[in-house]
Amino acid sequence: MEKVNGIEIMTSVKWKCPSNIAIVKYWGKKANQIPCNSSLSLTLAHACTETEVSLSAKSSDGVIELDYFFEGSKNEMFGARVEKYLAANIESFPFLRENALTIQSSNNFPHSAGIASSASAFGAIALALLDLRYQDAERPSQEIFLREASHIARLASGSACRSIFPDYALWGENARVPNSSNLHAIPVTEIHEEFEGMNDTILVIEDEPKKVSSSAGHSLMQEHPYAFERFRQANDRVRYLVDILKNGDISAFIEICESEALTLHAMMMTSKNYYLLMKAHTIDVIEKIFDFRSETKIPVAFTLDAGPNVHLLYPKKYRESVQEFVQMELAEMCKGVIHDHAGRGPMKMNN
Ligand code: DP6
Repeated sequence: MEKVNGIEIMTSVKWKCPSNIAIVKYWGKKANQIPCNSSLSLTLAHACTETEVSLSAKSSDGVIELDYFFEGSKNEMFGARVEKYLAANIESFPFLRENALTIQSSNNFPHSAGIASSASAFGAIALALLDLRYQDAERPSQEIFLREASHIARLASGSACRSIFPDYALWGENARVPNSSNLHAIPVTEIHEEFEGMNDTILVIEDEPKKVSSSAGHSLMQEHPYAFERFRQANDRVRYLVDILKNGDISAFIEICESEALTLHAMMMTSKNYYLLMKAHTIDVIEKIFDFRSETKIPVAFTLDAGPNVHLLYPKKYRESVQEFVQMELAEMCKGVIHDHAGRGPMKMNN
């Protein structure tokens, strides 16, 4: 038997899962990780988490016995979040009653770079756990396996359920999108060539951890004065964006993408406990993007996550000119620049 950190390992699997950036945002949720509106995102290629999950004999009678290592060191805080999630969902992973778990995880993107690490982290954990579950049971089709992984990932972190699928993924019930579900994401597969291989350049404005967590932000939507209208708007936009991705209308894409970013931050600024995550350079960068677009007619769109960093989305044919613009005009306002693009989704690795 192989030993990891002095523990005898019975079996282990390793998965790599990418992060994603939402174009239409998930902001507001109900009990059991049910979103208040549907959302649609771009899955990234380079920004990934690699996670090895190993099983060994239990040494205590605790419900979950977990050692969680991030980049080689024990991470008690994230480990506690994973443990709580596993205990709450033990029915999905009955083998955790008899086995101890070691999780070793690492990201190939810098911490606090404005890339959603919980999406890739929980995506990878969900895939690995499901893979372990099917070592002793008949494995379903790949389609069902991915849907189940998305479901399991959602229970840990909403945005993680979209990372299971390549390119573009949609999560949340939408009356006008067939097969959409609150329980798991679905792949959006009819993509015009304009949007294939979409680029995402991440402009890191601030690399400090943010002061208000996404969970706190979601809960502020519960009594938000504009919540009803916001959820309606997001659902309309998801349906519209599905058509845009099909017909290649880049101007309509830019309009939805940028308005979504500003609406997300407007929700934060207008909630009861209002707060502000944009920094001065976030606005400076956005204004430069507006100027660049109107001068060159090159279709670049910005979006924002729940943080100050800016994602620049643009079709692959404009790669050279946009990256030159970033280098010449934006890089000096940023703590870092990361070039990424649409990716092919998660992958099982050899361990
Ligand atoms: C602004 O998925 O991080 O990135 O479900 O509480 O883990 P939890 O929230 P999380 O929220 C993501 C919010 C967002 C928008 C989005 O990704 O759709």
